[in-house]
Amino acid sequence: MFVPGKVKLYRQARDLLVRGNYRMAKKILEVKNLVKKYAGTDAVAGVSFSIYEGEVVGLLGPNGAGKTTTIDMILGLLDPTEGEVLVFGKNLKEYRSEILQQMNFSAVYAQLPGNLSVWENLYIFALLYGVADPKESVKGFLKNFDLERFRKTRVGFLSSGEQSRVNLAKALLNNPRLLLLDEPTASLDPSTAQIMRGRIKEHVTLNKAAILWTSHDMYEIEAVCDRVLFISHGKILLEGDPRKLPNQYGKKNLEELFISVAREPLSLHPLHA
Ligand SMILES: Nc1ncnc2c1ncn2[C@@H]1O[C@H](COP(=O)(O)OP(=O)(O)OP(=O)(O)O)[C@@H](O)[C@H]1O
Ligand SMILES: [Mg+2]
Repeated sequence: MFVPGKVKLYRQARDLLVRGNYRMAKKILEVKNLVKKYAGTDAVAGVSFSIYEGEVVGLLGPNGAGKTTTIDMILGLLDPTEGEVLVFGKNLKEYRSEILQQMNFSAVYAQLPGNLSVWENLYIFALLYGVADPKESVKGFLKNFDLERFRKTRVGFLSSGEQSRVNLAKALLNNPRLLLLDEPTASLDPSTAQIMRGRIKEHVTLNKAAILWTSHDMYEIEAVCDRVLFISHGKILLEGDPRKLPNQYGKKNLEELFISVAREPLSLHPLHA
Protein backbone atom coordinates (compact mmCIF):
# COMPACT_ATOMS: atom_id res chain seq x y z
CA MET A 1 0.00 0.00 0.00
CA PHE A 2 1.30 3.50 -0.87
CA VAL A 3 1.74 5.55 2.32
CA PRO A 4 3.11 9.04 1.52
CA GLY A 5 4.38 9.63 5.09
CA LYS A 6 6.32 6.37 5.04
CA VAL A 7 7.84 7.16 1.66
CA LYS A 8 8.99 10.54 2.95
CA LEU A 9 10.55 8.93 6.04
CA TYR A 10 12.22 6.28 3.92
CA ARG A 11 13.70 8.94 1.62
CA GLN A 12 14.93 10.92 4.63
CA ALA A 13 16.56 7.82 6.11
CA ARG A 14 18.13 6.92 2.76
CA ASP A 15 19.51 10.45 2.36
CA LEU A 16 21.05 10.27 5.81
CA LEU A 17 22.55 6.84 5.18
CA VAL A 18 23.99 7.93 1.83
CA ARG A 19 25.73 10.75 3.63
CA GLY A 20 27.07 8.35 6.23
CA ASN A 21 25.43 10.50 8.82
CA TYR A 22 22.91 8.84 11.07
CA ARG A 23 21.78 11.75 13.16
CA MET A 24 18.68 13.59 12.02
CA ALA A 25 19.89 16.79 10.46
CA LYS A 26 17.81 19.63 9.07
CA LYS A 27 17.73 20.15 5.36
CA ILE A 28 19.06 23.63 4.59
CA LEU A 29 19.12 23.60 0.80
CA GLU A 30 17.14 21.56 -1.67
CA VAL A 31 17.66 21.92 -5.38
CA LYS A 32 15.04 20.22 -7.54
CA ASN A 33 15.67 19.46 -11.20
CA LEU A 34 17.41 22.75 -12.00
CA VAL A 35 17.81 23.51 -15.67
CA LYS A 36 19.42 26.51 -17.36
CA LYS A 37 19.24 26.62 -21.13
CA TYR A 38 21.03 29.12 -23.32
CA ALA A 39 20.75 29.25 -27.10
CA GLY A 40 22.75 26.28 -28.27
CA THR A 41 23.71 24.91 -24.85
CA ASP A 42 22.20 23.48 -21.68
CA ALA A 43 24.50 24.97 -19.03
CA VAL A 44 22.64 23.01 -16.33
CA ALA A 45 20.63 20.01 -17.46
CA GLY A 46 18.51 18.82 -14.51
CA VAL A 47 20.43 18.96 -11.25
CA SER A 48 18.92 17.82 -7.94
CA PHE A 49 20.56 17.59 -4.52
CA SER A 50 20.14 18.57 -0.87
CA ILE A 51 22.50 19.93 1.76
CA TYR A 52 21.96 19.43 5.48
CA GLU A 53 23.01 21.53 8.45
CA GLY A 54 26.64 21.09 9.42
CA GLU A 55 27.55 19.78 5.97
CA VAL A 56 30.16 21.05 3.53
CA VAL A 57 29.37 19.80 0.04
CA GLY A 58 31.83 20.15 -2.83
CA LEU A 59 30.56 20.84 -6.33
CA LEU A 60 33.26 19.52 -8.64
CA GLY A 61 33.58 19.40 -12.37
CA PRO A 62 35.56 20.54 -15.37
CA ASN A 63 35.49 24.09 -16.76
CA GLY A 64 32.08 24.83 -18.21
CA ALA A 65 30.39 21.96 -16.31
CA GLY A 66 27.69 24.24 -14.88
CA LYS A 67 28.94 24.88 -11.31
CA THR A 68 28.77 28.69 -11.33
CA THR A 69 25.46 28.64 -13.21
CA THR A 70 24.03 26.33 -10.52
CA ILE A 71 25.32 28.61 -7.74
CA ASP A 72 23.94 31.72 -9.46
CA MET A 73 20.50 30.09 -9.66
CA ILE A 74 20.64 29.18 -5.95
CA LEU A 75 21.54 32.79 -5.19
CA GLY A 76 18.61 33.99 -7.26
CA LEU A 77 20.95 35.91 -9.59
CA LEU A 78 19.87 33.78 -12.55
CA ASP A 79 16.36 32.57 -13.27
CA PRO A 80 16.24 28.81 -13.85
CA THR A 81 14.68 27.67 -17.12
CA GLU A 82 13.13 24.85 -15.09
CA GLY A 83 13.26 23.60 -11.52
CA GLU A 84 13.06 24.94 -8.03
CA VAL A 85 15.33 26.04 -5.17
CA LEU A 86 14.17 25.59 -1.59
CA VAL A 87 16.11 27.10 1.30
CA PHE A 88 14.99 26.14 4.83
CA GLY A 89 12.06 24.45 3.09
CA LYS A 90 10.92 27.73 1.51
CA ASN A 91 10.78 28.57 -2.16
CA LEU A 92 13.52 31.05 -3.07
CA LYS A 93 11.32 32.91 -5.54
CA GLU A 94 8.55 33.50 -3.01
CA TYR A 95 10.64 34.18 0.09
CA ARG A 96 13.73 35.72 -1.53
CA SER A 97 14.40 38.63 0.85
CA GLU A 98 13.73 36.55 3.98
CA ILE A 99 16.00 33.75 2.76
CA LEU A 100 18.79 36.05 1.59
CA GLN A 101 19.19 37.36 5.14
CA GLN A 102 20.48 33.94 6.11
CA MET A 103 22.59 33.33 3.03
CA ASN A 104 25.84 34.71 1.68
CA PHE A 105 28.44 33.96 -0.95
CA SER A 106 31.98 34.56 -2.03
CA ALA A 107 33.30 34.24 -5.55
CA VAL A 108 36.47 35.35 -7.28
CA TYR A 109 34.51 37.18 -9.97
CA ALA A 110 32.26 39.09 -7.52
CA GLN A 111 34.34 42.15 -6.70
CA LEU A 112 33.60 44.53 -3.87
CA PRO A 113 33.57 48.27 -4.67
CA GLY A 114 37.25 49.01 -5.30
CA ASN A 115 37.13 52.73 -4.47
CA LEU A 116 36.01 52.10 -0.89
CA SER A 117 38.39 51.09 1.88
CA VAL A 118 38.32 47.65 3.47
CA TRP A 119 36.68 49.09 6.59
CA GLU A 120 34.09 51.06 4.57
CA ASN A 121 33.19 47.98 2.53
CA LEU A 122 32.72 45.75 5.55
CA TYR A 123 30.91 48.45 7.53
CA ILE A 124 28.45 49.17 4.70
CA PHE A 125 27.71 45.45 4.30
CA ALA A 126 27.29 45.11 8.07
CA LEU A 127 24.71 47.95 7.96
CA LEU A 128 22.96 46.41 4.94
CA TYR A 129 22.77 43.06 6.74
CA GLY A 130 21.46 44.68 9.91
CA VAL A 131 24.34 43.28 11.98
CA ALA A 132 24.04 44.11 15.68
CA ASP A 133 26.88 46.41 16.78
CA PRO A 134 28.36 46.71 13.27
CA LYS A 135 31.53 48.58 14.32
CA GLU A 136 32.50 45.92 16.85
CA SER A 137 31.65 43.16 14.40
CA VAL A 138 33.78 44.68 11.62
CA LYS A 139 36.65 45.11 14.09
CA GLY A 140 36.47 41.38 14.90
CA PHE A 141 36.43 40.39 11.23
CA LEU A 142 39.39 42.64 10.41
CA LYS A 143 41.34 40.85 13.13
CA ASN A 144 40.22 37.33 12.25
CA PHE A 145 40.95 37.75 8.56
CA ASP A 146 44.30 39.46 9.11
CA LEU A 147 43.05 42.64 7.50
CA GLU A 148 43.77 45.19 10.23
CA ARG A 149 46.70 46.73 8.38
CA PHE A 150 44.52 47.25 5.30
CA ARG A 151 41.72 48.94 7.25
CA LYS A 152 42.08 52.23 5.35
CA THR A 153 43.32 50.81 2.04
CA ARG A 154 41.01 50.93 -0.96
CA VAL A 155 39.93 47.40 -1.87
CA GLY A 156 40.90 48.03 -5.52
CA PHE A 157 44.54 48.46 -4.47
CA LEU A 158 44.75 45.11 -2.66
CA SER A 159 46.39 42.03 -4.13
CA SER A 160 43.98 39.36 -5.38
CA GLY A 161 44.63 37.18 -2.32
CA GLU A 162 44.00 40.10 0.02
CA GLN A 163 40.77 40.89 -1.83
CA SER A 164 39.70 37.25 -1.42
CA ARG A 165 40.12 37.59 2.34
CA VAL A 166 37.91 40.70 2.35
CA ASN A 167 35.34 38.79 0.25
CA LEU A 168 35.33 35.92 2.71
CA ALA A 169 35.00 38.27 5.69
CA LYS A 170 32.04 39.93 3.94
CA ALA A 171 30.51 36.50 3.28
CA LEU A 172 30.50 35.63 6.98
CA LEU A 173 29.41 39.05 8.28
CA ASN A 174 25.72 38.18 8.52
CA ASN A 175 26.39 34.80 10.16
CA PRO A 176 24.84 32.91 7.22
CA ARG A 177 23.30 29.46 7.67
CA LEU A 178 23.85 28.81 3.97
CA LEU A 179 27.10 29.82 2.34
CA LEU A 180 27.89 29.46 -1.35
CA LEU A 181 31.59 29.56 -2.10
CA ASP A 182 32.65 29.61 -5.74
CA GLU A 183 36.41 28.94 -5.78
CA PRO A 184 36.90 30.97 -2.57
CA THR A 185 40.58 30.16 -2.20
CA ALA A 186 41.58 30.32 -5.90
CA SER A 187 43.97 33.22 -5.40
CA LEU A 188 45.14 32.43 -1.86
CA ASP A 189 48.61 31.10 -1.07
CA PRO A 190 48.61 27.61 0.54
CA SER A 191 49.24 28.95 4.03
CA THR A 192 46.48 31.60 3.88
CA ALA A 193 44.14 29.12 2.19
CA GLN A 194 44.60 26.71 5.09
CA ILE A 195 43.84 29.45 7.63
CA MET A 196 40.75 30.56 5.68
CA ARG A 197 39.48 26.97 5.41
CA GLY A 198 39.84 26.75 9.18
CA ARG A 199 37.78 29.96 9.68
CA ILE A 200 35.05 28.68 7.38
CA LYS A 201 34.91 25.23 9.01
CA GLU A 202 34.72 26.91 12.41
CA HIS A 203 31.77 28.95 11.16
CA VAL A 204 29.98 25.76 10.04
CA THR A 205 30.49 24.06 13.39
CA LEU A 206 29.48 27.05 15.51
CA ASN A 207 26.39 27.94 13.48
CA LYS A 208 25.30 24.53 12.17
CA ALA A 209 25.65 26.15 8.78
CA ALA A 210 25.81 24.43 5.39
CA ILE A 211 28.15 25.15 2.52
CA LEU A 212 28.22 24.48 -1.19
CA TRP A 213 31.88 24.83 -2.19
CA THR A 214 33.45 24.73 -5.62
CA SER A 215 37.17 24.32 -6.14
CA HIS A 216 39.60 22.79 -8.61
CA ASP A 217 41.96 21.96 -5.75
CA MET A 218 41.33 18.31 -4.87
CA TYR A 219 43.55 18.53 -1.79
CA GLU A 220 41.29 21.29 -0.50
CA ILE A 221 38.12 19.36 -1.33
CA GLU A 222 39.35 16.32 0.63
CA ALA A 223 40.26 18.57 3.54
CA VAL A 224 36.94 20.41 3.83
CA CYS A 225 34.11 18.48 2.18
CA ASP A 226 31.90 15.87 3.83
CA ARG A 227 30.42 14.99 0.46
CA VAL A 228 31.08 15.82 -3.17
CA LEU A 229 28.93 16.04 -6.28
CA PHE A 230 30.70 15.58 -9.60
CA ILE A 231 29.02 17.53 -12.35
CA SER A 232 29.76 17.31 -16.06
CA HIS A 233 27.85 18.84 -18.98
CA GLY A 234 25.27 20.16 -16.52
CA LYS A 235 24.48 16.78 -14.93
CA ILE A 236 25.52 15.14 -11.66
CA LEU A 237 27.49 12.00 -12.51
CA LEU A 238 28.77 10.89 -9.09
CA GLU A 239 28.13 11.64 -5.46
CA GLY A 240 29.84 10.50 -2.28
CA ASP A 241 32.48 10.87 0.39
CA PRO A 242 35.61 12.41 -1.19
CA ARG A 243 37.82 10.15 0.95
CA LYS A 244 36.03 6.96 -0.17
CA LEU A 245 34.90 7.65 -3.76
CA PRO A 246 38.31 7.22 -5.46
CA ASN A 247 38.71 3.74 -3.97
CA GLN A 248 35.14 2.81 -4.91
CA TYR A 249 35.93 3.63 -8.55
CA GLY A 250 39.39 2.04 -8.57
CA LYS A 251 41.25 5.36 -8.61
CA LYS A 252 44.29 6.35 -6.58
CA ASN A 253 42.93 9.66 -5.37
CA LEU A 254 40.34 12.35 -5.98
CA GLU A 255 42.48 14.06 -8.61
CA GLU A 256 42.63 10.85 -10.67
CA LEU A 257 38.88 10.37 -10.30
CA PHE A 258 38.30 13.97 -11.38
CA ILE A 259 40.37 13.47 -14.52
CA SER A 260 38.40 10.33 -15.42
CA VAL A 261 35.09 12.12 -14.87
CA ALA A 262 36.30 14.95 -17.11
CA ARG A 263 37.80 12.81 -19.90
CA GLU A 264 36.03 9.46 -19.96
CA PRO A 265 32.88 9.57 -17.82
CA LEU A 266 31.37 6.55 -19.58
CA SER A 267 34.22 4.32 -18.44
CA LEU A 268 33.47 4.94 -14.76
CA HIS A 269 31.99 2.01 -12.87
CA PRO A 270 31.98 1.30 -9.14
CA LEU A 271 34.17 -1.71 -8.27
CA HIS A 272 31.61 -3.15 -5.84
CA ALA A 273 28.21 -2.26 -7.29
N1 LIG B 1 25.06 33.83 -20.49
C1 LIG B 1 25.48 32.74 -21.11
N2 LIG B 1 25.20 32.51 -22.40
C2 LIG B 1 25.59 31.38 -23.03
N3 LIG B 1 26.28 30.40 -22.43
C3 LIG B 1 26.60 30.57 -21.14
C4 LIG B 1 26.22 31.74 -20.41
N4 LIG B 1 26.66 31.60 -19.13
C5 LIG B 1 27.30 30.43 -19.08
N5 LIG B 1 27.26 29.81 -20.27
C6 LIG B 1 27.85 28.49 -20.58
O1 LIG B 1 27.34 27.57 -19.65
C7 LIG B 1 28.30 26.57 -19.35
C8 LIG B 1 28.49 26.44 -17.84
O2 LIG B 1 29.20 27.58 -17.36
P1 LIG B 1 29.61 27.71 -15.83
O3 LIG B 1 30.16 29.09 -15.65
O4 LIG B 1 28.46 27.33 -14.99
O5 LIG B 1 30.75 26.63 -15.69
P2 LIG B 1 31.65 26.24 -14.43
O6 LIG B 1 31.37 24.82 -14.12
O7 LIG B 1 31.46 27.23 -13.35
O8 LIG B 1 33.12 26.33 -15.05
P3 LIG B 1 34.52 26.86 -14.42
O9 LIG B 1 35.16 25.69 -13.72
O10 LIG B 1 35.30 27.25 -15.65
O11 LIG B 1 34.24 28.02 -13.52
C9 LIG B 1 29.57 26.97 -20.10
O12 LIG B 1 29.69 26.21 -21.27
C10 LIG B 1 29.35 28.43 -20.42
O13 LIG B 1 30.05 28.83 -21.58
MG1 LIG C 1 32.69 28.62 -12.43
